[in-house]
Amino acid sequence: MTDSVTSRRQLLTQGAALLGTTSAGLMLPQSALAQSGKIRVGFMLPYTGTFAQLGVAIENGVRMAINEQGGKLGGREIEWFKVDDESEPSKAIENANKLVQRDKVDVLIGTVHSGVQMGIHKVARDSGVITLIPNAGVHIATRAQCAPNVFRTSFSNSQPTMALGEAMVKRGHKKAVWITWKYAAGDEAYEGFKESYTKAGGTIVKELGLPFPNVEFQALLTEIAALKPDAVACFFAGGGAAKFLKDYAAAGLKGKIPLYGSGFLTEGVLDAAGPAADGVLTTLHYGDGIETKRNKEFRLNYAKTFKLQPDVYAVQGYDTGLLLVQGANAVQGDVSKKSAMIKAMEVAVIDSPRGKWTMSKSHNPVQDIYLREVSNKENKVIGVAAKALADSGAGCRM
Ligand code: PHB
Repeated sequence: MTDSVTSRRQLLTQGAALLGTTSAGLMLPQSALAQSGKIRVGFMLPYTGTFAQLGVAIENGVRMAINEQGGKLGGREIEWFKVDDESEPSKAIENANKLVQRDKVDVLIGTVHSGVQMGIHKVARDSGVITLIPNAGVHIATRAQCAPNVFRTSFSNSQPTMALGEAMVKRGHKKAVWITWKYAAGDEAYEGFKESYTKAGGTIVKELGLPFPNVEFQALLTEIAALKPDAVACFFAGGGAAKFLKDYAAAGLKGKIPLYGSGFLTEGVLDAAGPAADGVLTTLHYGDGIETKRNKEFRLNYAKTFKLQPDVYAVQGYDTGLLLVQGANAVQGDVSKKSAMIKAMEVAVIDSPRGKWTMSKSHNPVQDIYLREVSNKENKVIGVAAKALADSGAGCRM
């Protein structure tokens, strides 16, 4: 990555040279500047904290999709910028502005954490910068505050759990405890779970929570043991998910009270969690074991390139890259043609390792949700829990 100050100066000089002048460079309109150099793409992702691995997997996925196109977007080279958002909502607006105002990115890719996404969303709506959400599922970004320049390539927070409750009731678990981190992602995952579980005839006996990214689960696990529900359902992710799985087993609950979750629970953590994850059932828009040529090739190439097993975050990053390629190709790399680029992304069909998906009217994936079971350090697909599931997009007017 080039130092942003140097690269900006280079860009100005290049722009000025194009006009045959050296002093008028600063007067160049932004669109001329943008076209004269590389396409500027900024990552705002967590590179530290409980979601650090998720940020890395997303960046890897994006780069892999673009490298498959010769490392270019619509024929133009790319200059990359990076900000570690630390999954810290209070710094989100400032961090997003480092990319948008300081680095003048043409495209912003971010982020993982729903609270941080709200800061990015404000900056995206105020600036009009093309923004691709590679994970954070916060509902409002593709509902009441949907925006033409903002696209999500991942899921809305209630999408993965919308199919979870029914799968639990079908297995005879009619009384459940729900447990999560108390912030937008956990609360909205609960909305999906509650709807599907109660509709299928289940009763939620208790809703438990702790603040993000706290991992002191002990008191809550003791409470679960005392409540003796038929099953437990949860939302956790990243480092905290690995710890929850291990603590659940260590508390003696594994094998006694079946554990279910939004599929993030078992993504990217199977090595860390070890046998504690075995047999856990989850619902998600991806599964390692999807038996398609597309998925198998993706997994092989990702593992070869990054010396890591891909997970849902790598897939979401990859799909973000695929979407960006389609948008940039439609305008031959002239990303200043925003409305043409947006139109191309709205009608894109993403040929993803998760299966083909399309964008809803509110810019959120319409996608299948799989039922998965952990076995031998793999999220095995054991069924399709929901076909072509769309978020409601409630309140979105575009
Ligand atoms: C979120 O904050 O939206 C979030 C974070 C991690 C996940 C899923 C959702 O795995």
